Amino acid sequence: MSAETEFELPQLYRYHVFACHTQRPPTHPHGSCGASGAQALSDRMSKAIEAQGLNDVGFTTAGCLGFCNAGPLMVVYPDGVWYRATTPDDVDEIVMSHLKEGKRVDRLVMVLKRS
Ligand code: FES
Repeated sequence: MSAETEFELPQLYRYHVFACHTQRPPTHPHGSCGASGAQALSDRMSKAIEAQGLNDVGFTTAGCLGFCNAGPLMVVYPDGVWYRATTPDDVDEIVMSHLKEGKRVDRLVMVLKRS
């Protein structure tokens, strides 16, 4: 006997943004995106995506992305671009340039320094 079930496929996004929301105490040695203002920046991005009518852009808050002291961080897929946006203007630029026009915002791309 087959237990076949039909599911409706979810909408496929043109872009999907994952923004770290992990919150640690401000004095924690790993730091955290939450302690660096991630909540307000995520709220800004969510509202900007909606205000621009970008219905084909997904936005999801996420757990730790692994580079906590560099936060606040977000990743835009399918491009795999990691951004460190620290101000509302940074967020607006990512929305208008990358998410709306498909142009990466190079000045905000996270760069890891090698030791
Ligand atoms: S807390 Fe955001 S990357 Fe770890």
